[in-house]
Amino acid sequence: MSDDVLFTPFRVGDVLAPNRVLMAPMTRSRAIEGRVPSPLAARYYAQRASAGLIFTEATHVSPDGVGYPNTPGVHTPAQIEGWRAVTDAVHAAGGRIYVQLWHVGRISHPLWQPDGALPVAPSAIAPAGEAWTPEGMKPFVTPRALALDELPGIVAAFREGARCAKEAGFDGAELHGANGYLLDQFLRDGTNKRTDAYGGPAENRARLMVEVAAAVAEVFGPERVGVRLSPWGNFNDMADSDPRHTFTTAARLLAPLDLAFLHLVERVETEDPVAPAIREIFSGALIVNGGYDAETARAAIASGVADAVAFGVPFLANPDLPTRYRLGESLNTPDRGTFYTPGAKGYTDYPALDL
Ligand SMILES: Cc1cc2nc3c(=O)[nH]c(=O)nc-3n(C[C@H](O)[C@H](O)[C@H](O)COP(=O)(O)O)c2cc1C
Repeated sequence: MSDDVLFTPFRVGDVLAPNRVLMAPMTRSRAIEGRVPSPLAARYYAQRASAGLIFTEATHVSPDGVGYPNTPGVHTPAQIEGWRAVTDAVHAAGGRIYVQLWHVGRISHPLWQPDGALPVAPSAIAPAGEAWTPEGMKPFVTPRALALDELPGIVAAFREGARCAKEAGFDGAELHGANGYLLDQFLRDGTNKRTDAYGGPAENRARLMVEVAAAVAEVFGPERVGVRLSPWGNFNDMADSDPRHTFTTAARLLAPLDLAFLHLVERVETEDPVAPAIREIFSGALIVNGGYDAETARAAIASGVADAVAFGVPFLANPDLPTRYRLGESLNTPDRGTFYTPGAKGYTDYPALDL
């Protein structure tokens, strides 16, 4: 047994992950016709199977949850089949893979929507900035506020996405509750101005997320489900008047579901992190992410702040990241120009160490 804390196994729900170097979810925009994961995706993820756990790129649960070119979904038979090839390849390589379930809410555009409809959101507030559309970048539109009687349909879409993901062979699911997408739009008060049971106090704003988590937990079992949260992120024009209160409230309301994990995007240099407060509220595994390297990850785990650390860019560029961290080897340089471009370049061609 290693005395390096990164390589001690840890329990996440009913899974024993062999190490604490996890792969963060990363959109790579390489899905093929029908938003089916590309055959290259099986190779890409299998190359990274030595991660304690892999989180996939964000994967939409319904056609109205789409907001970017060439991102994959998990709601059609072809998508299920495409993902099956990915999960089989990861399992054959000895890994564990959790789907990240996604609905972009207002970060969409009528050009992506069925019948050219307006994107949906908690409230009719346009984000500042531009949407990626099939015709290039265009200003965001003002979304349509979901009616109260439409919210069960959102929960049902996530439940169905989870069912499809389970059929595709995923080991579990992470809800994308971070980075300014639909569940995060409901949670934070900059984007949620509702006056019904889903708006107002943080307890109400967390309601949709909790209902979705419960529905996905019915499919996979709570021991295979977690939620990703980004308390401080302003990506996608997000804001909250009291992030500490909002996010500890969300953790408190999620806790009774007995989920396997929470995954906090809270950068390593955050001065007054919310992770310690969440640790006290939530008894499942706590994963942190954002700017970590091997040393800062060891420190976070050794201090008890987190059980594991997810790595984004370092895993993108280093298929054998755990081995490199274990041996103290240098890392490949990420090529930002190919993060979101088609094909193998910058995707499956980063070399592993020649040991
Ligand atoms: C190319 C790229 C795509 C990303 N896509 C997603 C995504 O689909 N879902 C998500 O929750 N975060 C996404 N992120 C954020 C990462 O999961 C992670 O939070 C971020 O890269 C910071 O971690 P790092 O410093 O270890 O890279 C993405 C990041 C990158 C670089």
